Amino acid sequence: MKPGLTIALPKGRLFRESVALLEKIHCSAEGLGEGRRLVFEDAEQQTRFLILRPVDIPTYVEYGAADVGIVGKDVIDEGDRDVYEPLDLKFGRCRLVVAQPGGVPQERSLTDWSYIRVASKFPRITERYYNSKGVPVEIIRLSGSIELAPLVGLCERIVDLVETGQTLAENGLVEVGEIMRVTARLIVNRASQKTKYEQVSDLIGRLKQVI
Ligand code: PRP
Repeated sequence: MKPGLTIALPKGRLFRESVALLEKIHCSAEGLGEGRRLVFEDAEQQTRFLILRPVDIPTYVEYGAADVGIVGKDVIDEGDRDVYEPLDLKFGRCRLVVAQPGGVPQERSLTDWSYIRVASKFPRITERYYNSKGVPVEIIRLSGSIELAPLVGLCERIVDLVETGQTLAENGLVEVGEIMRVTARLIVNRASQKTKYEQVSDLIGRLKQVI
């Protein structure tokens, strides 16, 4: 029997939909996601599931600790890891946007600031975005509750994910630009793509049928 795949699944927002998608193609394991266990195995299919923080999934896949993984396009672009990204899984839709307090005139252009302080969980994407616009920027890296930062004077703007828009609205922020649209993606280790070609192709083929 050919060796099976190790699949990295993201904790948090994408977890349930990732498991549901894989269940549609009969790819699962007893008790997957229950309790605090981080590894689940389906001995019959020889498939192993790792439960990871999304931000770590590209690293596990690049190093081959997982053959494939499911993770948001935002995390892939921020991580800059060397992995294949063969499939858009079309769930977990959200957007990465620039936002600022509603009180600041929206027509104020970027060039009105000599430099701008921007807080984000995505410093690399943010830096690339402002570099492409030629705007000097000081990026303040935060790890959560980003919407608070401009309200207490830590920064002028934020770059953060928006799904329903509720968090922006409830904190009096308005969107002033869109950087990218985000969905969950399948990523594949470059060596596994060759050494486990059949297994990886089979997984991609079956996923394509249910997306
Ligand atoms: C994310 C994101 C926004 C919010 C957007 O944060 O960073 O804050 O969700 O969702 P909405 O548009 O539907 O309101 P998350 O809940 O992951 O928590 P965090 O702020 O601690 O990162």
